[in-house]
Amino acid sequence: MTPEALLDTLAERRSLPLEGYRSLIEAAEALAPRAAELARKAREPIYGNRVFIRGLIEISSFCKNDCLYCGLRRSNAGAERYRLTEEEIMECADEGYRLGFRTFVLQGGEDAYFTDERLVPLVRGLKTSHPDCAVTLSLGERSRESFTKLREAGADRYLLRHETADGAHYGKLHPESMSFENRMRCLRDLRELRYQVGCGFMVGSPFQTSETLAKDLKFIEEFRPEMCGIGPFVPHHATPFASCPAGSADLTCYLLSLIRIMHPNILLPATTALGTVAGNGRERGVLAGANVLMPNLSPLSVRKKYELYDNKLCTGEEAAECRACLDRRIRNIGYEIVTDRGDFKSANAVVQ
Ligand code: 5AD
Ligand code: FES
Repeated sequence: MTPEALLDTLAERRSLPLEGYRSLIEAAEALAPRAAELARKAREPIYGNRVFIRGLIEISSFCKNDCLYCGLRRSNAGAERYRLTEEEIMECADEGYRLGFRTFVLQGGEDAYFTDERLVPLVRGLKTSHPDCAVTLSLGERSRESFTKLREAGADRYLLRHETADGAHYGKLHPESMSFENRMRCLRDLRELRYQVGCGFMVGSPFQTSETLAKDLKFIEEFRPEMCGIGPFVPHHATPFASCPAGSADLTCYLLSLIRIMHPNILLPATTALGTVAGNGRERGVLAGANVLMPNLSPLSVRKKYELYDNKLCTGEEAAECRACLDRRIRNIGYEIVTDRGDFKSANAVVQ
């Protein structure tokens, strides 16, 4: 089958064999415009031109892990560490609410300070003061008991990128203390506990090949996440991958299109990393099929300290400025940011 025909098959059957995904990835350059067109066509009846926003609150830059790509890795002695107080987190959420955000994403490194005993009241507090909002957690790997308690406290969604669906590749990106099996165990637990689950990966991470990417696509096809966060790898100067090249915006956009075609209902962010590698990266992401933006609500005083990678966008902007900037950018390309929790729309839902 030609790559063009494979793309049509993906649009019809929403599934391809591993080899098919690999051929599509290898034909990225030629197929990207057609893939973007099919992606927009798949999204239109479900989400129209609506783009959802999530307010990202980076609650801690402490991390006990040592992922080789990440600036927050514990071996990075140069990283400035901080953690927000419960009060600061609530203030960020209140400000976000005033700006029209109806989802708060609490993200942080794997910080032992944030025990269940501390997180449960925090999640409860957020859900009590903003009952019309969704709370998303993105706090790394935790035990099933912990996921259970946080879900019972009211957390609606959990983001945990799988990072790569190839076990050997996973091993090259992470220290020995971390395991691919535990990552997958977490994703399964989250699913069973009825979270809306987000997985995802970096595009252009060191040692990535068309084969590992094909496995990522097959995994996303089968796991059927409600969300999928993909963004280019961006080197951080104080990591072992400092001199590796950044991932490409073009390939990221193409993969966004393929994921949209495979799962028309999925929530797909145009990430800050995509905006970092290309000036209009987020707009290009939306035109390729993304329908979520996750601007920062963290206090300005800590913005620069949550440094996953170099040259991160929006570290000097107030939340209100980002909101206004995104509104303008998205309107300019014919889309519209909406104030809505932006829940996953199940198979047959259409825009009212
Ligand atoms: N470049 C791009 N993305 C990164 N992440 C971590 N480090 C980097 C980097 N150097 C992503 C990981 C993680 C998410 C929070 O940020 O995929 O899951
Ligand atoms: Fe932050 Fe544009 S989105 S300034």
